[in-house]
Amino acid sequence: GVMVLLIIVAGLGVVTLLVILFAPHIRKYAAGGVCMSPARLDGKTVLITGANTGIGKETAQDLAMRGARVIMACRDVDKGEEAAASIRAAYPEAKVEVHELDLADTCSIRAFAQKFLREVNQLHILINNAGVMMCPYTKTIDGFEMHIGVNHLGHFLLTSLLIGLLKRSAPARIVVVSSLAHNFGWIRFHDLHSQGSYNSGLAYCQSKLANVLFAREFARRLKGTNVTVNSVHPGTVNSDLTRHSTLMTIFFTVFSTFLKTPREGAQTSIYCAVAEELHSISGKHFSDCAPAFVAPQGRNEETARRLWDVSCELLGIEWD
Ligand SMILES: NC(=O)c1ccc[n+]([C@@H]2O[C@H](COP(=O)([O-])OP(=O)(O)OC[C@H]3O[C@@H](n4cnc5c(N)ncnc54)[C@H](OP(=O)(O)O)[C@@H]3O)[C@@H](O)[C@H]2O)c1
Repeated sequence: GVMVLLIIVAGLGVVTLLVILFAPHIRKYAAGGVCMSPARLDGKTVLITGANTGIGKETAQDLAMRGARVIMACRDVDKGEEAAASIRAAYPEAKVEVHELDLADTCSIRAFAQKFLREVNQLHILINNAGVMMCPYTKTIDGFEMHIGVNHLGHFLLTSLLIGLLKRSAPARIVVVSSLAHNFGWIRFHDLHSQGSYNSGLAYCQSKLANVLFAREFARRLKGTNVTVNSVHPGTVNSDLTRHSTLMTIFFTVFSTFLKTPREGAQTSIYCAVAEELHSISGKHFSDCAPAFVAPQGRNEETARRLWDVSCELLGIEWD
């Protein structure tokens, strides 16, 4: 018994020592791809959802440093203003503005778009970044299950309201922040809102699969418009995303050395937004600033079309 314990302790000691010794290498590997493009965005307008924290905030800061006017769409304006202030502190010339947008409320989305279209006359880059993960069963104001409601349907409505402006501002790009989690999802058309049975992990995976399917179907519909749309897996990023799961929060804290920082997690969104070589690339999925694998269920055209139609129906919009 004592011998086994000693071996385990010694083993753990060796592993810890190795981790410490190789920490710089592990960090470099965990950081993943970096957007190397020096592209400037002077005179360009960018809209980022969920930009008050995590990946969205870092994306906002990077694009602002490239000279863009960045509109940070946040549900909590105070938190948004705090983030904008910290960006301005890091980069005093940053043109960042905070607008109120709650993706869990179609009235808020419509009000946001109305104000946006009145005040902003061009939109070159839209980054659908906001997201919720593994929250307890909740519904949006309109009665949609929270994951599919915010991560997919909210952004679907927002994009439909802004696509005219994007087309008029072309060349324009849309970046949909999805996840590797799409691999474990499937679209449950018979129970999209998980009323029959709810599993917070699966609901998240379903919504991230919906992101991939939306980007692919939308790219097909946007052919010839000079507006492109691609989806992204940012990597496993140490952000506030795990806030609803104690287990995942502990896991993310313990293994933080192996995870990306939000700045590292923002690289692929930034790459898809600015890289010169992607100017005509659409309907693709990226991770670590490179093309990435899409699960078979994310490549199914019939599912993509059906999801498009169901989304229009649920939101009461016509969009073709
Ligand atoms: N972190 C990862 O490992 C990881 C991996 C794969 C994919 N992703 C994706 O990356 C994206 C960004 O996530 P993150 O890691 O940066 O997480 P985060 O730090 O939790 O940021 C999420 C953002 O979304 C906002 N948001 C949530 N519900 C909203 C609503 N109803 N209306 C408007 N905004 C809302 C949050 O606002 P509040 O702060 O006010 O709540 C926050 O700004 C998400 O789409 C996520 O699915 C992340």
